[in-house]
Amino acid sequence: MLVTSALPYANGDIHLGHLVEYIQTDVWVRYQKLCGHEVHYVCADDTHGTPVMLRAEALGITPETLIESVWHEHTRDFRDFGIAFDHYYTTHSEENRELAQRIYKALNEAGLIERRSIAQMYDPQREMFLPDRFIRGTCPRCGAPDQYGDSCEVCGATYSPTDLIDPRSVVSGAVPVRRNSEHHFFRLSDQRCVDFLRQWALEEGRLQNEARNKLREWLGHSDGGAEVEAGAGEAGVEAGAGEAGVEAGTGEARLADWDISRDAPYFGFEIPDAPGKYFYVWLDAPIGYYASFLRHARNRNLDFDAFTGPDSSCEQYHFIGKDILYFHTLFWPAMLHFSGFRPPTKVFAHGFLTVDGQKMSKSRGTFINARSYIEQGLNPEWLRYYFAAKLNASMEDLDLNLEDFVARVNADLVGKLVNIAARCSGFLARRNDGCLGASEHSALEGFAGAWCGPQSLGALYEGREYSRAMREVMALCDAVNQYIDQRKPWELARQAERGAELQQVCSTAMRVFAHLMRMLQPVLPGTAARALDLLRVSNRDWASIDPLGDAGMPPGHRIEVFPHLLARVDRKQIDALVEANREQRTGPATPSPPIGIEDFARVDLRLGKILSAEAVQGSSKLLKLAVDLGEAAPRIIFSGIREHVAPERLLGRTTVVVANLAPRKMRFGTSEGMLLTATDVSGEINSMFFLDAEEGARPGMKLS
Ligand code: 2FM
Ligand code: ZN
Repeated sequence: MLVTSALPYANGDIHLGHLVEYIQTDVWVRYQKLCGHEVHYVCADDTHGTPVMLRAEALGITPETLIESVWHEHTRDFRDFGIAFDHYYTTHSEENRELAQRIYKALNEAGLIERRSIAQMYDPQREMFLPDRFIRGTCPRCGAPDQYGDSCEVCGATYSPTDLIDPRSVVSGAVPVRRNSEHHFFRLSDQRCVDFLRQWALEEGRLQNEARNKLREWLGHSDGGAEVEAGAGEAGVEAGAGEAGVEAGTGEARLADWDISRDAPYFGFEIPDAPGKYFYVWLDAPIGYYASFLRHARNRNLDFDAFTGPDSSCEQYHFIGKDILYFHTLFWPAMLHFSGFRPPTKVFAHGFLTVDGQKMSKSRGTFINARSYIEQGLNPEWLRYYFAAKLNASMEDLDLNLEDFVARVNADLVGKLVNIAARCSGFLARRNDGCLGASEHSALEGFAGAWCGPQSLGALYEGREYSRAMREVMALCDAVNQYIDQRKPWELARQAERGAELQQVCSTAMRVFAHLMRMLQPVLPGTAARALDLLRVSNRDWASIDPLGDAGMPPGHRIEVFPHLLARVDRKQIDALVEANREQRTGPATPSPPIGIEDFARVDLRLGKILSAEAVQGSSKLLKLAVDLGEAAPRIIFSGIREHVAPERLLGRTTVVVANLAPRKMRFGTSEGMLLTATDVSGEINSMFFLDAEEGARPGMKLS
């Protein structure tokens, strides 16, 4: 099997929202491997597109340098959370270029690529076409200011950036203009694509029911009248103009052709025989699955074609979030099929992560970074267990309730699971030199009624019903703990003549414990491996789970002394984690208390013209600016905006400066003022916005 998780963008950190998917996939892959299947789990960083290009530019580095350092951060995060990819690559690879070109050429030869001139918004100052997300302006429907080029966050309207009132380029602040450009389209509307997709996507068992219903809408029903919704508009960070969607209409839905090219400047792969045209990031992203696997196949001498060829008998599974269903169930299978590859076996979509019932938020501190979770000293296996305990095969959102997280980890993992070993292993160590006796067979038979048994448990893993799987495992833990409560080994230990009984009770419990740890290997790989090492158990395969058997620990088998396997979570650790992730730079979410005019008057706000701007060596955050305030000499101001803006973008602009801020000595020099910028109080929008004075305003003018 070839298994993938969605490729994370190289312009951001891994956060707990991402981890839902990687943990879901990793659990599944580990289960498949325990069953003896040959599984290749591959992934990569999704590196191309405008955001990476602009961010690198703002940082004053090349995109290649940026994506390389992000690759190291991402791989470290995944490793620390136990996500065991067989290969983790980058979409900026020769293999991906090779495959993207090959697929494009094949689609072209099949008559599925069309060139068309379309009008798009263009930034005349920065000389680049603007993705919708890089244009902001007033919503044409409700009049809310400062909305994205494709949708309004206030009224929910979706529109084209050309409808936006008073549009501005986020890149330069310039007024965008319409400009024509030739784009390459993948002709998804071609009847061959529609026919193929209907047959592929609607096949029984291919997709989850919710997904299948969506596909019915998108592909049109034979009975007509399907409710048609916009397609992938919000799926990418960079949904550009001409983004594919479904054309609304009555009766048969018609798939819209997909715009797969972008104009230079763009960070990506140039399209063969089309200088200045690049593959849109979403074209080469899924191909990145194959590129990662191709690299892996070459490293391991695997037969790439046997997995990916049109008649492949291997299986191919993609785990994704529900927001990118369109890309994975329409574009991707069609691209593959019409370029001589096999389409996916199944696509598994999951919902989004909420924290305490709400969307993750930077200002609330619930937009939690994977790295900070590790740095705060929390155990990644707590999170793996918690997610498993809540995951199922549906596309519903999953809530991380912080109170419940603490309660469940402590109750289940510590109170039920490792408690079995804590209660029984010590007696064996002290009384029997760690050696097991026989099991109490009638007790083992009693446990069998308490849970579903290994076969059904396996089916739950296979079917991604992890929450039910965890309930079954915990039910067996409960049964064993009840047995210990009844047989009271601590009392048996006080009666010298009952030594054999004591050994039997503890041996019985420890054998079940060994099976429990085998069953939990997909979810708790680290803890399970440690426990099974201490138990000195060698066969750990799924097939070795036989709760009536001897667990690979026959009478006389010696186990090691058990340390504490898992610590409890302390609510204080969670509070510290949330605190560490809270972004304060935007100030309080509610307006500050009122002040008098005399308080306001104490702040001397002036217009300043930015004469020069440069990155500060040795600081990732600071720019050094020379700002003309109409005084004898320009002021030197150090501003922590380097991650948000390229220095060139500031040159010549007249903006607002706090002129009477006490000078501040810094490592790099003294800062003689402060630049004002606007940021989103809720923390949802990550950009910083600069203020510009109207034409005619002069440096030194006072704001009042
Ligand atoms: O939505 C995202 O985060 C994309 N980077 C996912 C790409 S998945 C695949 F198609 F490459
Ligand atoms: Zn609106």
